[in-house]
Amino acid sequence: MSSDLNAQEIAHAARLLEAGGLVAFPTETVYGLGADAENPQAVAKIYAAKGRPSGHPVIVHLAPQADPGYWVSQLPAQAEKLIAAFWPGPLTLILPRAPHIPDAVAGGQDTIGVRCPSHPVAQALLQEFKHGRGGVAAPSANKFGQVSPTASEHVRQEFTEADGGLHPLLDLILEGGQSEVGIESTILDLSRLDYLGPVLLRPGHISAEELALHLEHMPLPADEAAPRVSGALASHYAPRSPLALIDSASLPATLQALLQSGRRIALLHHSNHLDTALQESLCARIHLPPRPHGFAHGLYAALRRLDNAKPELILVEQAPDTHAWHGVNDRLRRAAHDSIGILSNLLRK
Ligand code: TXA
Ligand code: MG
Repeated sequence: MSSDLNAQEIAHAARLLEAGGLVAFPTETVYGLGADAENPQAVAKIYAAKGRPSGHPVIVHLAPQADPGYWVSQLPAQAEKLIAAFWPGPLTLILPRAPHIPDAVAGGQDTIGVRCPSHPVAQALLQEFKHGRGGVAAPSANKFGQVSPTASEHVRQEFTEADGGLHPLLDLILEGGQSEVGIESTILDLSRLDYLGPVLLRPGHISAEELALHLEHMPLPADEAAPRVSGALASHYAPRSPLALIDSASLPATLQALLQSGRRIALLHHSNHLDTALQESLCARIHLPPRPHGFAHGLYAALRRLDNAKPELILVEQAPDTHAWHGVNDRLRRAAHDSIGILSNLLRK
């Protein structure tokens, strides 16, 4: 990926961030929409560009050699162990926020989310920005509630204005190929260790079992009192077309019924046995590997492509209900949330 690591462009991006601008950059999970985490005006631009309600905290991205202790008021031993095991990589830790870190980036909460991405372009940018001692606040580079971008062209689609120009607040999009992981980082809350223990706020590529190997026990599932995570809203990560989940056993008959009544259906599936006649009647179809990491890698790009075919319904074959699929199932459930009932309606009409 040497062409992606264009030193001049990285330096230019770092100067834009230092001047309070917005730069979209690749990470191994999804592309981020970055701003200087210690500049409240710059962070405010992220909310404005995304259309994200304020009060939703943003993850701070750090260079590998940066000191996470600068951002937090307490770095528990569990955090140090997880950092040693998983950074750089797709793990965000929620920790008590240091008093000098601005409110804006934490959405007013007394915690802060920190992560060190492994993507070489993200690392080069973080190393160049403020000589590697700054933090880049970055949510996923999509409009609020939409599918996260896993390629630079997705970012461009999200932030292209009606007149064809880039959103006026977005200064630059750095190129970094396709994000390898494909779904957002695992988020583990370590801010309530004293009275609760570690809490898994968002499942991801790094599973609860993998985390447990470095903790004393399994992280707890997210609870009511958990710090606010917008990715934890019931409806999120959603394409524009309605999306419904269907179990593998019911898939062929349901498809047949929908297609017979002339419905425009797009399909995302992972099993192989699908009748050729059925396949040909679909307006779009994508097959992803029947393995959690391969499926996650292709998931968001697939949803975007199927959405572009403007189907009446995106039908998604449900993934197995095992720990390894937890991250994928979480995203699919939220993407399908607003579509409850749509499948039965289409079948009834
Ligand atoms: O993989 C990722 O995490 C990507 C890339 C760009 O790093 N970022 C990402 O950001 O997914 P975003 O904003 O789309 O999702 C971050 C989630 C949000 O749901 C936010 O509420 C939560 O992290 N979060 C951030 N700081 C937090 C805090 N202090 N307490 C609780 N939740 C926090
Ligand atoms: Mg997001």
